[in-house]
Amino acid sequence: MTQEELFKKLVAHCKEYGFVFPSSEIYDGLGAVYDYGQNGVELKNNIKRYWWDSMVKLHENIVGLDAAIFMHPKTWEASGHVSAFNDPLIDNKDSKKRYRADVLIEDWMAKIDEKIEKEVAKAKKRFGESFDEEKFRATSPRVQEEVAKREAVHTRFANAMNDNDLAELRQIILDCEIACPISGTRNWTEVRQFNLMFSTQMGSTAEGANTIYLRPETAQGIFVNFLNVQKTGRMKIPFGIAQIGKAFRNEIVARQFVFRMREFEQMEMQFFVRPGTEMQWWNEWKNTRMAWHRALGFGDENYQFHDHDKLAHYANAATDIEYKFPFGFKEVEGIHSRTDFDLSNHQKFSGKKMTYFDPETGESYVPYVVETSIGVDRMFLQVMSAAYTDEKLENGDSRIVLKFPAALAPVKVAVLPLVKKDGMPEKAQEIVNQLKYDFNVVYEEKDSVGKRYRRQDAIGTPFCVTVDGQTLEDNTVTVRHRDTMEQERVSIDRLHAMVEEECSYRKLYKKLNL
Ligand code: GAP
Repeated sequence: MTQEELFKKLVAHCKEYGFVFPSSEIYDGLGAVYDYGQNGVELKNNIKRYWWDSMVKLHENIVGLDAAIFMHPKTWEASGHVSAFNDPLIDNKDSKKRYRADVLIEDWMAKIDEKIEKEVAKAKKRFGESFDEEKFRATSPRVQEEVAKREAVHTRFANAMNDNDLAELRQIILDCEIACPISGTRNWTEVRQFNLMFSTQMGSTAEGANTIYLRPETAQGIFVNFLNVQKTGRMKIPFGIAQIGKAFRNEIVARQFVFRMREFEQMEMQFFVRPGTEMQWWNEWKNTRMAWHRALGFGDENYQFHDHDKLAHYANAATDIEYKFPFGFKEVEGIHSRTDFDLSNHQKFSGKKMTYFDPETGESYVPYVVETSIGVDRMFLQVMSAAYTDEKLENGDSRIVLKFPAALAPVKVAVLPLVKKDGMPEKAQEIVNQLKYDFNVVYEEKDSVGKRYRRQDAIGTPFCVTVDGQTLEDNTVTVRHRDTMEQERVSIDRLHAMVEEECSYRKLYKKLNL
């Protein structure tokens, strides 16, 4: 199965099993907007809890906030989003399709990378044990040629993005002979900048109405509340403010399912530090955040850092944590050193002081900020991609199983009476009642036990508990484990502790060493 086919299956699975639906589907959906179903919302909530607790509960110097989506319009002038939150767009004159110029070039570079990797893989196969990969990369004329081609374009691309040189971006597209995937032609318009913020009107009459924006990042709610939280919480620098909330961007290239949406959710944390210490904190947060991802056990080799070629208008250093999705390594989280850009600009635009008096140095200053910013939906897709397993079984059957870390699984336990009679449903219901205050538990009595196991595998339930004739005699049940499919006989009194041990977040948190 190709990675593309795998991804299609994953998307179909998300719909079939109540994880993600297209928004307003009965009206044929709305582009790049999605709804989370009964299992999706549980998984999403569990991801948010993992993030929130690791920030707010496990760090004494980080507190939470829940700011409004609507903010005073000046916020977005001060933050630079009105003037600089743009994507460079280009249209193909034949297909009339619109693309992000930077994405067309990045995709072209990714194809060259793929070509290089294919050359290396071919040689590895040919030379077997004696293959010296480093030497091959350094000496193969074909590899060298591709690397040089890529590097030349990469340098031009990075410069063009940093200089906002739209003509040069178009020239790179022409020089690389990039064609529209729909029309196949290279008949391109000029490149234009397009602002990504959605706007709406606030006020009851058109005349009195004010144009306001749906926030494109949650971070600004934190910046404008910086002093409120610092003073009321008597916070001392360094300290952080964490927030989870919706953000909105009018993305032109909306693709790859919930990876790039127009309405999405962010988990952001702004860490306020003494000027001059920001690089040390930036490095620290890079490591802390990478450890958070790796603790989920999806394989360290599936993560990498990717430093930005073009820094956002507010940053002096930025890196992404990328995960290996079925469609390649892509950004899940950004870690940005935002300097004092935001607080200083809010000070300028509002006329209100944004300074902090540092009792240790006796100085007042505008703090510097290191932010960690992760999309809930991208994290959701990361977890789904990593968990989705098409498994061949020894008896020749196959099963689709979602191997979630148990703490994140939408349902922790399914309780199944073997048959719908002889007091088994009542006993099963008793077990549900015993567990439901602490865990998400479902009761299932329809179909054979085998079919019920498969349905629970497909939504990633770690435990299936079957009540049978013996249960009524000795108060034991069969517990079937999702990943190994092993079954064991367990006393009902032990169930709570068993589920707690496996599904608790504590196991994950301990790996973070915080
Ligand atoms: N406050 C900084 C900021 O917003 P960003 O790199 O633009 O930085 C941070 O976004 C994270 O938000 C990304 O790493 C990604 O996970 C998520 N994100 C951004 N745009 C998104 C979109 N259109 N759909 C889904 N997630 C998105």
